[in-house]
Amino acid sequence: MTITVLISGRGSNMCALHEASLSGQLSADISHVIANKPDAAGLQYARSHNIKTTVVDHTEYSSRDEFDQQLLGTIESSSPRLILLAGFMRKLTEAFTQHFESRLINIHPSLLPRHTGLNTHEKAILAGDRWHGCSVHFVTAELDAGPIIARSVVNVEKDDTQESLAARVLTKEHQLYWRVAQLYLENAIRWQDGHVEYCGKRLAYPLTL
Ligand code: GRF
Repeated sequence: MTITVLISGRGSNMCALHEASLSGQLSADISHVIANKPDAAGLQYARSHNIKTTVVDHTEYSSRDEFDQQLLGTIESSSPRLILLAGFMRKLTEAFTQHFESRLINIHPSLLPRHTGLNTHEKAILAGDRWHGCSVHFVTAELDAGPIIARSVVNVEKDDTQESLAARVLTKEHQLYWRVAQLYLENAIRWQDGHVEYCGKRLAYPLTL
């Protein structure tokens, strides 16, 4: 079984997934890493670990549809069982998300549905949240709004800065993502008519992992 990971930058979640695969905790190969930016730092890690990499540079396409079409073909060229967005900073079209419906998953650094979009750690601090964290969800065309599979929670401390909070959340992300991916590969988690099914039953609330 193979997983394709899409990145735009650092790629620490992609590294954590790859490490989980190497250690056998995740029973699939990270076989293809695709970036929309040629200078995405995570590409270097992937190359140095002999993972196939492809750059689909969004600046070379005149429309979102054209870019998504190229991205779609690049993903399908390696026939992955699962596609994971890991810091992939592009909105995706409905045609794209519908094509991959049920096998396209994202990780987001907040307790969704709270704090969609960017600057989530700042938003959590400014809102005075006592809890913050990360979420893994199926991807739909609406940004950060697809069915939520699982979340990990951290406390927000009084002296937290955006950086300290981001670092604590990232540690959780690195555990949460491969765990959810593994549940998916074991067929414990499934997309069913726009909802998440867990062990054959519709999830009323996201899992807490
Ligand atoms: C992570 O916080 C992820 O949740 C968000 O973007 C960040 C990417 O970090 N979508 P990295 O590139 O995986 O290190």
